[in-house]
Amino acid sequence: MTRHLLEVDDLTATELASVLDLAADEYPPHVMAGRGVALIFQKPSARTRNSSEVAVFQLGGHPVTIRADEVGIDTREPAEDVCMTLAQYHSVIGARVLDHAVLERMARVSPVPVVNLLSDRSHPLQAIADLLTLRSHWGGELAGRRLAWVGDGNNVARSLVLACAMTGVDVSIASPPGHGLDEVSLDAVVALGGSLSVASSPAEAVKGADAVCTDVWVSMGQESESAARTEAFRPYQVDAPLMALAAPGAVFLHCLPAHRGEEVAAEVIDGPASLVWAQAANRLRAVRGLLLWMFGPHQGRG
Ligand code: CP
Ligand code: NVA
Repeated sequence: MTRHLLEVDDLTATELASVLDLAADEYPPHVMAGRGVALIFQKPSARTRNSSEVAVFQLGGHPVTIRADEVGIDTREPAEDVCMTLAQYHSVIGARVLDHAVLERMARVSPVPVVNLLSDRSHPLQAIADLLTLRSHWGGELAGRRLAWVGDGNNVARSLVLACAMTGVDVSIASPPGHGLDEVSLDAVVALGGSLSVASSPAEAVKGADAVCTDVWVSMGQESESAARTEAFRPYQVDAPLMALAAPGAVFLHCLPAHRGEEVAAEVIDGPASLVWAQAANRLRAVRGLLLWMFGPHQGRG
């Protein structure tokens, strides 16, 4: 059966642990020699495109980045046909899509792994990078730590809370009314045996947390909601007084791109608690670890 990665919990907890371990291999074998990887983008990207291209190169393969308008998903031809065509040449189809359902349709027909490079619903490679970042900062152990998510219950939040549930990290989340994590995600965390509490304020979420995370107030594709969102999220900025409520030595995470003065104060993202550049660096290790797990001697075992 072809394994896809549309969400981080498409891996078992044991498989996720293997991917994290493989990600640490700085001199990986050329397990993708002679193989192509298609990277389709319906939205802009700095980190995902570049980390994926370099990871494929480091594994001996050849990445081909494709702007969505070049292949015309569901305009020039159906998503399924785009996917099937690219699968004739490539060993992986990575796609960043506006609508998660497009990834699901591709995965249904694809004979090669489909990897989510960010959808409106999830961002699994970011969650893997964030676990790598925290694990390295905390000296190898994730279980028993506490992470606070302040802001939108969005794609990045959804994947991160699932990843936390799979690794024993307790989560508290504070979001403006109407912008919290959906019930399906909350149920999925419980089903994974995770611990997640919904706080009534950023201060309550952050109290005693070992890591504080946020993301933009307006994700790609939500630009028309910009004014209303900016208004609703204003009390949710992560600033120095909020960070002071977290545990001593707490760190700050943001997947980037960030907007200083909106979801995060410059003094926090550019301050000593910030791990954002380690997160960006770990995007390369995350996708490399996943591809090593898929194509290396492991071949998708736990
Ligand atoms: N964090 C992240 O996915 O960045 P890009 O949108 O630049 O790829
Ligand atoms: N939530 C953001 C993440 C960007 C990496 C978005 O979807 O635009």
